Parts: sequence; structure tokens; C-alpha cells
Amino acid sequence: MKALCWHGKGDVRCEEVPDPRIEQPRDAIIKVTSCAICGSDLHLYDGYIPFMESGDVLGHEFMGEVVEVGSENKKLKVGDRVVVPFTICCGECVQCRRGNWSVCEKTNRNYDMATKMFGYPTAGLFGYSHLTGGYWGGQAEYVRVPYADVAPVKVPNGLTDEQVLFLGDIFPTGWMAAVNCEIEPTDIVAVWGCGPVGLFCIKSALMLGAQRVIAIDRVPERLAMAQALGADIINFDGIEETIPEQLKDMTGGHGPDKCIDAVGAESHATASFDAMIDKAKAAMMLGTDRPHVLRTAIMACRPAGIVSVPGVYGGFLDKIPFGAAMNKGLTIRTGQTHVNRYAEDLLKRIEEGQIDPSFVITHRAPLEDGPALYKTFRDKEDGCVKVVLKP
Ligand SMILES: NC(=O)c1ccc[n+]([C@@H]2O[C@H](COP(=O)([O-])OP(=O)(O)OC[C@H]3O[C@@H](n4cnc5c(N)ncnc54)[C@H](O)[C@@H]3O)[C@@H](O)[C@H]2O)c1
Ligand SMILES: [Zn+2]
Ligand SMILES: [Zn+2]
Repeated sequence: MKALCWHGKGDVRCEEVPDPRIEQPRDAIIKVTSCAICGSDLHLYDGYIPFMESGDVLGHEFMGEVVEVGSENKKLKVGDRVVVPFTICCGECVQCRRGNWSVCEKTNRNYDMATKMFGYPTAGLFGYSHLTGGYWGGQAEYVRVPYADVAPVKVPNGLTDEQVLFLGDIFPTGWMAAVNCEIEPTDIVAVWGCGPVGLFCIKSALMLGAQRVIAIDRVPERLAMAQALGADIINFDGIEETIPEQLKDMTGGHGPDKCIDAVGAESHATASFDAMIDKAKAAMMLGTDRPHVLRTAIMACRPAGIVSVPGVYGGFLDKIPFGAAMNKGLTIRTGQTHVNRYAEDLLKRIEEGQIDPSFVITHRAPLEDGPALYKTFRDKEDGCVKVVLKP
């Protein structure tokens, strides 16, 4: 079959690889009908996430048709149409039973590696580093879904792929980031990043009743999308150091009640002192995360506010103003998304017409165009906000 394979920094290739097979009785094989490139894939593409191996099949946002099921899988049958959450969950461990799906205790095959890095292992993820199990992903014609009797979400035929595809990742991610903000009707929510995740954070915060959302980015077409969703916008280009001051002015001197970092490890910053430290550290191989936005969000948030961090970080972050977080009494919430906590509810909202998640899609192409589109998406060329590939 054809699949998009990682071969190193900036090197994704569409290659012929062996077809997946049923390996465990609860598995299923899915014929992928649509898959997407996620901002998290860019961290792999840019070499920010360790423990990738040459030839790994990428992709964790995908859906399709069940073509084979293992003997013990009682949930799926051949012909079912499913969206597959990016988190692999056993459904039985203490964390799965609590609904903490992204930290399933059983599905990470590289238990020791993850324990060394994070203290405890986190769930296996599709197409995402051997630190999270080294499972092949869904930017491919077919994919093996382990524990396929737990996470896959059956979707009705009346909805198009484009309407439901993002239920596997970015829609619940934006939603969880907003839920984590415990939004109240008087809230002003600041969202850094108007990429696909940031846009779903904005939409979700408004759906959950926030009074106002202020969105920050520097890419004009992304800011325009944020505005179309109902956010006030700030273009940070050339004025990155003034963002907390601007937010203070826009909130009557109080600061945003809730702050969402929808940027993560590769935040752009050039002029500020902390950005120079991050650059020097990267040059000396002392770390790669650039947490400029996280630092800014902590400083900008009003006392007793909430900082919600869907943005992905990889390692050990430096110069985080924890004194500000502690003394202001901030609540900080983060995590890989517990997709199955929200997917059924969000599917219902799509069916009811409360939201059509396909609004973010700007590029549609065959799988073979994937390597070029990784670059287009990363470099934000050609107005690219979200890529959907058709294997
Ligand atoms: N928690 C999860 O489960 C989960 C799931 C999906 C994605 N993510 C993460 O969410 C983040 C965003 O994903 P995406 O698909 O939207 O990616 P993206 O790369 O398309 O978007 C990031 C956006 O941040 C903007 N940005 C960069 N520096 C900024 C700054 N200093 N201030 C404001 N904006 C800035 C960029 O211009 C870009 O528009 C990534 O870190 C991704 O890994 C997390
Ligand atoms: Zn993702
Ligand atoms: Zn589990």
C-alpha cells in the first residue's frame, strides 16, 4: 500500500510499504477514505519530537471503512464507517475507566522509554514517535487499529468525511481546551495561535458562552478566519513584546480571564529576550521547545485565571515564570486530548448543525501530494490552513 513515511527532518516521502495485518484479536483494519495533516505532525517534520525512526508511517487524524476485524472485536463489523481518535485506548485500565483516555496505561508499547521521559507512560498514539508506542499512522491507504473495540467512533452516512474527520483530533482538542477554561458568561478568553487548533478553541469558547475571544497570530488569512468566527484579533507581527500590554488595554486593565496556548513548542518570536535564550539553547543542543507563548500567556492572564495549554511540548522547558503563576494563583491545565470524552457529544452537535468543522479546510489532494503539502502547511504558503488527503 501507499503511505507517507518519515525519513528525518523535513523529509516525508510517499512510499510503498507492506499492508497492515490483524495482529491481535481486538484489532481492525481500516481502509482510509480521508486523512489530515495536523500541527502535531509538524513537530515531527521539524524534528522537535524525539524517538522517530526512518520509515515510520505518519498520520493520526484519519477515518475510513472497516475492511477486516479481529475475532474478539464485538464493536465493529466490516463496512462500518468510523473516525479513529488519535489516542489508542484499552478501555479497561484505571485511566480509561476514569475517562482519561490519552493516558491509557496499557497501550504504549514502549513503556520504559515513556516512563523515563514522563514519570509514567502515556497512551499509544498513531503515527507519533516511539515514545508513544511507535504505531504506524493513518496517512496511508490502510491502517491497523489496535484495541479497535474501544476508541473508534461510528459515523452516520448522512455526514460527509469532511464534516466528521476532525472528530478524531482537532475539534475535540479545541473543545477540551475551552472546557478546561471553565468558561463563564463574563469571560474574555485570549487564544494564541489561529491554526486549525486555535480556530477550534475560538469556536468552542464562543459555543460554551464566552463573552468575548481575542485571537493572536500573524498570518493574515488565519486571523481573517478567527474574525469570521467572531473573535477580535491582534496581529503580533513586529509587536510580540507588547501583547500582554495590549491585552491589558483591551480588558479594562484586568487581563484576560482565561488564556489558551494553541501554539506549542514552535512558537514564533524574534525580538524578545526569552526568544534569544531559546535560540541559544537550541544551538547548543540543550533543548528545542520554544515556549514563548506559554510564558506570555502566564504573564498576561489575570490573577486567579486559567491557562489552558493544548499546544504540544516535548521536553524540559526553560524560563517559565512559575513565580507569576504561583503568586497570581493561576490554574494551568493541559494534555493530549481525551478524545473519547467529547467525540459523541461533538458528533451530535455536528448532526444538529451547531457547527460544520469543514470550515478550516483549504487544501484537498491525493495522498501522493502529501510530502509537498507538509511543506506548504508548515510554511503557511498558498493560504494553507488545513490539508485533507484522499488515499
Ligand atoms: N493537545 C492535543 O491533543 C493536540 C492535538 C492537536 C494539535 N495539538 C497542538 O496544537 C498546536 C497547534 O496546532 P495547529 O494544527 O493549529 O498548528 P499550526 O502550526 O498550523 O498553528 C500554529 C499557529 O500558531 C501561530 N503562532 C506562532 N507563534 C505565535 C505567537 N508567538 N503568538 C501567536 N501565534 C503564534 C502560527 O502562526 C500558526 O498559525 C500544536 O502544538 C499541535 O501540536 C495538540
Ligand atoms: Zn494532531
Ligand atoms: Zn487503558
